[in-house]
Amino acid sequence: MKLTVIGTGYLGATHAAAMAELGHEVLGIDTDSSKVARLNAGEVPFFEPGLPELSQRNLQAGRLRFTTSYDEIGAFGEVHFICVGTPQRKGSNAADLSYVHGSVDALIPVLQAGSVVVGKSTVPAGTAAGIAQQVQAAGGDLVWNPEFLREGFAVADTLTPDRVVLGAESDRAIKVMHDVYARILESGTPLIVTDFATAELVKVAANSFLATKISFINAMAEVCEATGADVTQLATALSHDERIGGKFLHAGLGFGGGCLPKDIRAFIARAEELGVDQAVEFLKEIDAINLRRRARMIDLARQLCSGTLAGMRVGVLGAAFKPNSDDIRDSPALDVAAAIQREGAAVRVYDPEAMANARISFPALAYSSSAAEACADADVVLHLTEWSEFRTMHPSVLSDVVRQRNIVDGRNALDRDLWRSEGWVYRALGRQ
Ligand code: UGA
Repeated sequence: MKLTVIGTGYLGATHAAAMAELGHEVLGIDTDSSKVARLNAGEVPFFEPGLPELSQRNLQAGRLRFTTSYDEIGAFGEVHFICVGTPQRKGSNAADLSYVHGSVDALIPVLQAGSVVVGKSTVPAGTAAGIAQQVQAAGGDLVWNPEFLREGFAVADTLTPDRVVLGAESDRAIKVMHDVYARILESGTPLIVTDFATAELVKVAANSFLATKISFINAMAEVCEATGADVTQLATALSHDERIGGKFLHAGLGFGGGCLPKDIRAFIARAEELGVDQAVEFLKEIDAINLRRRARMIDLARQLCSGTLAGMRVGVLGAAFKPNSDDIRDSPALDVAAAIQREGAAVRVYDPEAMANARISFPALAYSSSAAEACADADVVLHLTEWSEFRTMHPSVLSDVVRQRNIVDGRNALDRDLWRSEGWVYRALGRQ
């Protein structure tokens, strides 16, 4: 089939390559011409394991191409995926839908009658119904098909998703989607066909649940700190109950990134508009617990520096919002690093992949090209993103370069006994 993908960020670039991998002919579009040139040359403008290989393979096979021209995509295909971003609106909790509406407005004049427009962007409930009217007036049909991929696992999550959700009003459009996803569905992937509002809500409900799980264990970490208990052992014990499970129960510095924080805030904003704000009032607490972990991290660093960070040297390990990603959107690591610098500390940051993005967004921070360099003469080391490079690093790599052997493990991912046996003062969130 001939498909187009509008927007080539983390979602769109992955979706385009994955659809080509399924055997479709795919044309991706983005307004950023330098990005389009890089994608056509087989470069992926962000770090995503496996995606460069997938893109190159499909570019070479002639199934994948990128353009900046809407005229071209209208003529090219009959199924158009909307994969543009919906960031948090400035000065508000609500989602900024300008890219979604902008892409639909640009697509409508070139849409061929009988085409199917597929929304994948995360949007507040009620958005799809409005877009459906526009698409129908142009002779097409809309499907809302939320995306659940995780950065770092984007290729596998797209090619072998846990489920496919299709919100639609037209049987013809559902049939087309069966053809698009034939290979995925034939392998037994659960399919949920529903209305627009439910499809939109599945996505925000899923991210809200995940955020709630993380904040739940981080709330327990606060209690553990007050009682002398150990949140990592608590989580392990809880995880053996299959009803609870162990995933997303990892206590630490909490969630960040371009999805969970802004999605729960947009959900709160939409619920207020709908008059059901009480139903998601708890999400405000989920957000607050999450942000408190960042403050606690700074407290622990301050404690290890005898009560003040002013004039101290701080080595920061990690800048990305999570490992295996170079995404620094709402990164807890960089938020903490910047706050510590504001308290008068000299902060040096090292991350295996996110340095270029961090430098652009946080130009006032200092950066190093290795963990040892970032921690040179440090009074305290902060472990803020659990890259395997840090998890497997022997303390001796840093022992002789730091001024004081102080470390705060913001991700509960280092071997506490090993670090202590090497003479380090080891502190962590939620345990002694
Ligand atoms: C999240 C969801 O997991 C995806 O299903 C969804 O498709 C995506 O948002 C999206 O809306 O596009 P992602 O933002 O890539 O994916 O990252 P996650 O793996 O969910 O991690 C989010 C944050 O939670 C990270 O900062 C991570 O460090 C933190 N986290 C995760 C914890 O603090 N503890 C955990 O146990 C798990």
